[in-house]
Amino acid sequence: MAYAAGVDVGSTQTKAIIINEAREIVGRSLTDTGANVVMAAEHAFREALGNSDLREEEVEYVVGTGYGRYRVTFGNMQITEISCHGRGAVHMFPGTRTVVDMGGQDTKAIRVSESGEIVDFCMNDKCAAGTGRFLGAASSALDIPLDQLGPTALRGERPVKITTTCTVFAESEVLSWLGKGKKIEDILLGVHQSIAARSAGLLRRVGVEDEVTFTGGVARNVAMIETLNERLGLDVNVSEESHFMGAIGAALFALDHILSSRTPTRAATAKEGA
Ligand SMILES: Nc1ncnc2c1ncn2[C@@H]1O[C@H](COP(=O)(O)OP(=O)(O)OP(=O)(O)O)[C@@H](O)[C@H]1O
Ligand SMILES: [Mg+2]
Repeated sequence: MAYAAGVDVGSTQTKAIIINEAREIVGRSLTDTGANVVMAAEHAFREALGNSDLREEEVEYVVGTGYGRYRVTFGNMQITEISCHGRGAVHMFPGTRTVVDMGGQDTKAIRVSESGEIVDFCMNDKCAAGTGRFLGAASSALDIPLDQLGPTALRGERPVKITTTCTVFAESEVLSWLGKGKKIEDILLGVHQSIAARSAGLLRRVGVEDEVTFTGGVARNVAMIETLNERLGLDVNVSEESHFMGAIGAALFALDHILSSRTPTRAATAKEGA
């Protein structure tokens, strides 16, 4: 049995996935990237190995992806996260034609072909106002844990209108709404709606074609799913694995490499010669 791994070193979190030849996930890990990117990649891979009870030498091929992909020192190949999220999304949801990946720093809109090849993509420029970091700023300003942002926002009834386009000012705008007596849930609903509007704008630039698959850590946020659905007028695909989609795509590319580089068996050679 061959094993392949994908390590997605994101700006915020590092994800590692190990799959077997049947493309089943046998090990995984998630860790904060932090300042030492090389260590984060190693740590994530080691944890995924421990999780799968495999030894390092049993994993034949490793693909690194994400912004820190060149720091995956033990990796055999690097592939961009655009390709890996596209590949992972089409694997999970074969009807996928558009992918929206919301991570800590970047939001990416990707259009894929039936076979999962990248047709077009577009990402937010330097500004992180449509990303997880914006949510992180709201989370610390309101002192609400990240995983409670979505459920709290969904209780909102009269969303405020967030006007800032910069994460640096997000915290002060959130606090000023709080000072004006607005409810936390209404402020948070407004924050999610503003991110959904920005992401929908990005998606329109590549062309929204159904089915849309939502990937990246922000896909764990229920309010982000709902506000995005509302904005796009459709239901995006989300999976339990959405946060790991880039690492899954990378592991699938790694498995491709293993399978294609195998020397043909005698039986296959005989058949070809026939
Ligand atoms: N349990 C959770 N609930 C809600 N949001 C979460 C949760 N876990 C992570 N997130 C969000 O996901 C973000 C990280 O996502 P992800 O790991 O996809 O980013 P990344 O790949 O490091 O960043 P990038 O792709 O921009 O380089 C965090 O900033 C946070 O907003
Ligand atoms: Mg990412």
